[in-house]
Amino acid sequence: MIKLEKINMVFGEGTPNRNHVLRDLDLKINKGDFITIIGSNGAGKTTLYNVISGNLRPTSGQVEINNKPVTRDPEYKRAKYIGRIFQDPLLGTAGNMSIVDNMLVNGSKGFKGLKISLNRKKREYFRDQLTRLDMDLENRMKDNVGMLSGGQRQALTLLMMSLSRPELVLLDEHTAALDPRNASKVLDLTSRFIDEYNFTVMMITHNMQQAIDFGNRLLMMDEGRVIVDISGEEKKNMTVEALIKKFHEIRKKDFTSDEALLS
Ligand SMILES: Nc1ncnc2c1ncn2[C@@H]1O[C@H](COP(=O)(O)OP(=O)(O)O)[C@@H](O)[C@H]1O
Ligand SMILES: [Mg+2]
Repeated sequence: MIKLEKINMVFGEGTPNRNHVLRDLDLKINKGDFITIIGSNGAGKTTLYNVISGNLRPTSGQVEINNKPVTRDPEYKRAKYIGRIFQDPLLGTAGNMSIVDNMLVNGSKGFKGLKISLNRKKREYFRDQLTRLDMDLENRMKDNVGMLSGGQRQALTLLMMSLSRPELVLLDEHTAALDPRNASKVLDLTSRFIDEYNFTVMMITHNMQQAIDFGNRLLMMDEGRVIVDISGEEKKNMTVEALIKKFHEIRKKDFTSDEALLS
């Protein structure tokens, strides 16, 4: 469904701050994959999302969506395929607009109603949808989104994104800014909606156990490369300890080969 070939991303080329962030990265994302992604700060995880979404054009390499090259397509052209949720709950919704107006702008796609009573029907549809969050938001539809908590905003973002039925969902530590109770609530909703709509998903998390427990495939990124890509039984049987061990083994191997190169 999505294919990345030999992606390189270099920031600040020709300056002392040159930063080679993605390195010859190859990745195939299959329809229905639920990929969890871990990796230390600065490994290039968010940059990878930016390249997939078209927010950044890679320095070299090719991006294909459904067998069509989109490397040069701007972000807005890919927006209909891709839904993205960021760590910051403020980014997914417009705080100065009401819940219902936010939904009108972003959550209308799945609505099929009669034209005659469009407005009333639509409001009922949104109300029904909001009850699924179990946060009492269906009774606050005229409230400005700016009055909601971070967890409520993130849940609303998740709902609106789901209703717009993207082909690929990119989650970037979307529960990391929430308190533990809200984080687990939003995570539950996430996995419910993913199951229900059969989304293809990438989920960056800094929680290794979560990365093991969720999804069918796990990637570990390090210094702009995918250094672990596991699925099936191997992923099911993975433990946090084994994952950390794998990380150190791979790093050590790189280090020794670098030493060998230098000697
Ligand atoms: N638009 C940008 N311009 C310059 N440098 C960037 C830009 N985006 C990311 N970087 C740099 O790329 C590196 C990887 O960042 P990022 O992809 O955000 O890592 P991660 O999400 O894995 O923590 C960091 O060193 C960061 O400073
Ligand atoms: Mg990041």
